[in-house]
Amino acid sequence: MTDRPLAAADGPHTADPLLEIADVTMRFGGIVALEAVTFSVSQGRIVGLIGPNGAGKTTLFNCLSRLYRPMRGDIRLNGRSLNRCAPSDIAALGVGRTFQAPTLFASMSVLDNVKVGAHARGANTPLTDALSLPRMRREEHELEQIARATLTFVGLDQMAARPAANLSLGARKRVELARALAVQPSLLLLDEPAGGLNHTEVAELGALVRSIRDRLGITVLLVEHHMGLVMGLSDQVVVLNFGRVIADGPPDEVRSNPAVTEAYLGTRH
Ligand SMILES: Nc1ncnc2c1ncn2[C@@H]1O[C@H](COP(=O)(O)OP(=O)(O)OP(=O)(O)O)[C@@H](O)[C@H]1O
Ligand SMILES: [Mg+2]
Repeated sequence: MTDRPLAAADGPHTADPLLEIADVTMRFGGIVALEAVTFSVSQGRIVGLIGPNGAGKTTLFNCLSRLYRPMRGDIRLNGRSLNRCAPSDIAALGVGRTFQAPTLFASMSVLDNVKVGAHARGANTPLTDALSLPRMRREEHELEQIARATLTFVGLDQMAARPAANLSLGARKRVELARALAVQPSLLLLDEPAGGLNHTEVAELGALVRSIRDRLGITVLLVEHHMGLVMGLSDQVVVLNFGRVIADGPPDEVRSNPAVTEAYLGTRH
């Protein structure tokens, strides 16, 4: 397969900030989930977002994908504020995401699950689908090609026709990744992709995430508790604790930061 149907970014990687998170604050009643969170992600980077349970990582992803509306602050993608965007706009803007909890349609085939992602990015609407115009049918064919190319990329092309329910956890996680890639994102948000995987599967996932960046040019924001994976993959690591950024820098620097060690020592990690 060529990388073309999936390629999201042309040209060399640059250091332009693709994503800027500025002063983002989110509270649930008395709980401060995010407090003045500020950091940026340059294009072409793999950025690890870590922190103890309840630190605010998933909440930040939910703010990014507009499922939550922050009470304060701004999130900019390619310089454009997402403040006025609806959750349904996010895929079209080039953001793909996987979820911490499984979200596949169990009775649908692997291919159809991945096509959901391609659809989210495509121009088809329920109305044009209902009319089934010839141009739209062509588009449907293109969406299927994108979904198949994505499945090949994650190594699941042989499983396209199987119901998602019959897959192992490792394969299900790959299908979720394929669905997020079928959006053809410029930014990919991964929420604990290694959760529940065995040692070999974690190593394979690491190689896959690296190739998503290297071969497809996609910038990755990676939430993960598996320290070996995050530290080995990331160019930059941002640490959240009780909703605040307590460290932001290269993995080696973050690993030896006393505030980070202290945050983890106070938890079950
Ligand atoms: N919808 C919600 N309603 C109320 N509180 C919430 C909601 N979502 C998150 N929270 C709270 O916000 C805080 C941050 O939660 P979040 O899920 O973002 O943490 P996390 O860093 O993703 O943790 P984990 O590593 O366990 O997944 C927690 O105290 C959590 O209970
Ligand atoms: Mg979480």
